[in-house]
Amino acid sequence: MTTMLTLLFSTVTVAIIAILSSSSQIGFGIFAPPEIAGSRDVFPSARVINVTGASGPESVAFDPAGEGPYVGVSDGRVLKWRGESLGWTDFAHTAANRIQREKSILLLTLLNSKAINLLLSCVVVVSQRQLCVRPFAPELEHVCGRPLGLRFDMKTGDLYIADAYFGLLIVGPAGGLAKPLVTEAEGQRFTFTNDLDIDEEEDVVYFTDTSTRFQRRQFLAAVLNFDKTGRLIKYDRSSKKVTVLLQGVAFANGVSLSKDRSFVLVAETTTCKILRLWLSGPNAGTQDVFAQLPGFPDNIRRNSKGEFWVAIHSKKGLFAKLSLTQTWFRDLVLRLPISGPRLHSLFTGGPHATALKLSEPGEVLEVLEDKEGKTLRFISEVEEKDGKLWIGSVLMPFLGVYDL
Ligand SMILES: *[C@@H]1O[C@H](CO)[C@@H](O)[C@H](O)[C@H]1NC(C)=O
Repeated sequence: MTTMLTLLFSTVTVAIIAILSSSSQIGFGIFAPPEIAGSRDVFPSARVINVTGASGPESVAFDPAGEGPYVGVSDGRVLKWRGESLGWTDFAHTAANRIQREKSILLLTLLNSKAINLLLSCVVVVSQRQLCVRPFAPELEHVCGRPLGLRFDMKTGDLYIADAYFGLLIVGPAGGLAKPLVTEAEGQRFTFTNDLDIDEEEDVVYFTDTSTRFQRRQFLAAVLNFDKTGRLIKYDRSSKKVTVLLQGVAFANGVSLSKDRSFVLVAETTTCKILRLWLSGPNAGTQDVFAQLPGFPDNIRRNSKGEFWVAIHSKKGLFAKLSLTQTWFRDLVLRLPISGPRLHSLFTGGPHATALKLSEPGEVLEVLEDKEGKTLRFISEVEEKDGKLWIGSVLMPFLGVYDL
């Protein structure tokens, strides 16, 4: 009997390995993204704005004058969109590399051949920094920076940036090098700062550190390992006090305050949930589940009516379900010699784009999609402004614009 079971198990395992490792499209049928009842496949008609020379405009923000949007891209810059004729311009960056690079070059010029070792180390610094111009280089993110969540303070015009590697940063209305505001909480350095929102009345910033164990470029590993070290943190701008509000979050991602600022939402990506932490009222200090979603939520952005747009990185298909509920399956997947991109396409079931609009109490009002990823894919944020949705993606080299 045991032999029979072992044989059966081995056969199943071999079949699964064959499907997973095959470079063909076999396997995508059963792992295809599931349908969502009532969803509208309207995003194929979205317009795209290419982020020339860059990729991964994760977050989208408009300044107090309504200009922009501004987006953070994967080479560490924050770019500003100035319309069709002017295109994108550099606005800010989160790594000091551009300044250090000038210093290194100066140092090189001053040095003579006796200091050959130092010279060589400077050459390394210079060439490494220069690589920050590559549009997509995950292995250099800790050098170049990776700006994720962006929010403007509408009173001061300062831009707050959650950089995946450098913590919570701020840059003035003129842009340039952003300076770090908070890099640790309770003695634990941030590993993967992700998103934020600002309560200008209370003078506080709420932001997430996705994990204390995994960095941004290991995001899929953080999900597959069911990492639960994510935190929601509060930064008091006047007292400079840093408080951990929630911990043990399974991939703490997007952050959004409610219109009346009575609660703050946090996307818990791995569990496909939006958590709500009450900030005032009878339930202040307690948390509950605001919404259970059909996929993995990224950023949350409120519209002027107080509703929330949630960008779904990908819907939860069979592969994701199996990996997150069956330890043997997950362990098998993690041991297989499959590339990161292949694992990502199995996990997501292939390219698609899904956005949900939730009401203030958390009901699903609308689901907009590009079911086959014809125009948009793997979206990370949906920002509603003047009858348009501005749609970011952490992976794609363009921004989407959809007329409501
Ligand atoms: C954006 O880039 C794609 C791929 O390079 C290209 O096919 C498309 O024409 C570009 N679109 C615009 C509006 O420039």
